[in-house]
Amino acid sequence: MRLENKIAVVTGAASGFGEGIARRFCEEGARVVVADINAEAGKAVADSLADAVFVKADVTESDDVAALIKAAEDAFGGVDILVNNAGWTHKRGPLTEVSEEDFDRVYATNVKSIYLGAVHGVSALRRRGGGVIVNIASTAGVRPRAGLTWYNGSKGAVITLTRSMAGELAADKIRVCALNPVIGETALLEAFMGGPDTPELREQFISTIPLGRMSRPLDIANAALFLCSQEAEFITGICMEVDGGRCV
Ligand SMILES: NC(=O)c1ccc[n+]([C@@H]2O[C@H](COP(=O)([O-])OP(=O)(O)OC[C@H]3O[C@@H](n4cnc5c(N)ncnc54)[C@H](O)[C@@H]3O)[C@@H](O)[C@H]2O)c1
Repeated sequence: MRLENKIAVVTGAASGFGEGIARRFCEEGARVVVADINAEAGKAVADSLADAVFVKADVTESDDVAALIKAAEDAFGGVDILVNNAGWTHKRGPLTEVSEEDFDRVYATNVKSIYLGAVHGVSALRRRGGGVIVNIASTAGVRPRAGLTWYNGSKGAVITLTRSMAGELAADKIRVCALNPVIGETALLEAFMGGPDTPELREQFISTIPLGRMSRPLDIANAALFLCSQEAEFITGICMEVDGGRCV
């Protein structure tokens, strides 16, 4: 059990990568707080896990994130691991045609959420004598594709702030890393592809991934598990591609 006695908060854990991370962490002995704005799906995930609770939280709202951290401490006695996974994208298309409302939502969900997670979460990690923060960024922040410009920029911000957080929080024994998944089979897939999920459109994307497939939640969950385990105790500030070679 690689996460025995660890308490983890995973945002956006009602589906996709976050659900995969919550499941894998529970298998390895962690107690998990499943956080999401989607209460129905989030509750279903938490109910299916051995030692998990659901907390409804919008990661763009300061009061919600404060209440989320408090709920984790009330339920399990602390927070050792915070996975900032909740994310959102505007639909793939010309950069001048993305609405201001969608631009703001991308940055609030993908970037402000990490600020709020730090403002409310770092003190909880400090109370445990340290911990790990994993931010889910993207290959979009390293090797941007046309048509996703504002999303790409938000993930570039996640990568830079991860490295800065790592330097600043090392003194507190808080490690901060990011994962950069390549396009994956989740609810966001059609928005990233810019059209209906057809074999032909999938093939356009898969042809740019040397290992020949999209990412899956288990790929991201296994990488997050490693970063949060004792095996990674000397690793901080890395932004690790989980991308089948897309960024090579
Ligand atoms: N799927 C991909 O191709 C891909 C690739 C690289 C990175 N990512 C990133 O992975 C992360 C997870 O996305 P996914 O692909 O699993 O998508 P998903 O839509 O399956 O899961 C995202 C979850 O986040 C929740 N969420 C959205 N806004 C929220 C908010 N304001 N507060 C709380 N929860 C909120 C949603 O309800 C959903 O359950 C995101 O940060 C995304 O940018 C995805």
